[in-house]
Amino acid sequence: MNIPFNKPYMTGKELFYIAKAHFNFILAGDGPFTNYCHSWIEARTGTKKALLTHSCTAALEMSAILANIQPGDEIIMPSYTFVSTANAFVLRGGIPVFIDICPDTLNIDATLIEAAITPRTRAIVPVHYAGVSCDMDAIMAIAEKYNLLVIEDAAHGIMSTYKDRPLGSIGHMGCLSFHETKNIISGEGGALLINDERFVERAEIIREKGTNRSQFSRGKLDQYTWCDIGSSFLPGEIIAAFLWAQMQEAVEITKKRLAIWDAYHEGLAASEAAEVVRRPVIPGLCQHNAHMYYLLSHSLAHRTSIIELMRQQGVNTVFHYVPLHSSPGGKRYGRTSGLLTQTDELAARLLRLPLWVGVDTKEVLCRLALAIYPK
Ligand SMILES: Cc1ncc(COP(=O)(O)O)c(C=O)c1O
Repeated sequence: MNIPFNKPYMTGKELFYIAKAHFNFILAGDGPFTNYCHSWIEARTGTKKALLTHSCTAALEMSAILANIQPGDEIIMPSYTFVSTANAFVLRGGIPVFIDICPDTLNIDATLIEAAITPRTRAIVPVHYAGVSCDMDAIMAIAEKYNLLVIEDAAHGIMSTYKDRPLGSIGHMGCLSFHETKNIISGEGGALLINDERFVERAEIIREKGTNRSQFSRGKLDQYTWCDIGSSFLPGEIIAAFLWAQMQEAVEITKKRLAIWDAYHEGLAASEAAEVVRRPVIPGLCQHNAHMYYLLSHSLAHRTSIIELMRQQGVNTVFHYVPLHSSPGGKRYGRTSGLLTQTDELAARLLRLPLWVGVDTKEVLCRLALAIYPK
């Protein structure tokens, strides 16, 4: 039996809600299902305003416009992240400044942020890797001291918390992903969380092609018009209907994923004790959401051999990301601050196990046992 890396979980209610949207004859954005999703996110996270977007990428792009990033402005972020974290700011002429990550969580190393700040710095973008929070107290304190914005890339972070505060709701803005590989999905999808009231009105305008259509739809204006730059960042109702089914089961989905994560973690305890692999570390202040289970091999050669041996046994294991500072785009559009030793080393050793509702953890662990011991 082959075990895929990812298998999207369906609650069974997605098509029912999509049919409802169909019979409502409301298919464009911001209909009833979008409103249900907005209310759910706002109630769950305490954010001032949640806005569904096509993707986390789109939410990050909106945040860069809202942060008023101008050509030459600098944005501090980890290099160990997905391309969209940087690209959203590069689209506005911003310069990503890549700093190193912590060896325990693989999150941005907050102790390196101050050294990366220059007069052109405008924002810090912490990425909550694997749904485990960055050191948000330290990051918010630095942001306050230097008057910087904090935009959380919480693509992995739905249902995770830091000191009981939901990820995405702590910085000035937060960005979520509902991509098929995430915990709560709509195929492609995302949301922008606006935690600082100052940005709410403009965010609605930017999301609606630069118009004040949202206010018009609420009956506050008798016509709508072009007010600002913007684009079409909002998804249609079919996507929102799908997502609504998932949100209703978010607690159960998270519990199921956590049980899988715990089974892997327990199953690999002996291998860690024998120093064959290293397991993820979850700091005490963080409640994670079991977005991913990764392990750290000894070396690139060790990882390559594990992936190949797992592939021969029908299990698809993967790695990511190519650190942005060593990618062609990162070299062209960004720069580094300090050494990125941890980033380079850990990116070469990291390996992700299949984690989806229904995966047979015993099977994966049995096959892994044959693959992880260096020959
Ligand atoms: C850290 C991070 N940020 C942003 C994104 C982009 O998310 P989306 O695919 O919803 O645009 C991803 C995608 O996996 C990601 O891993």
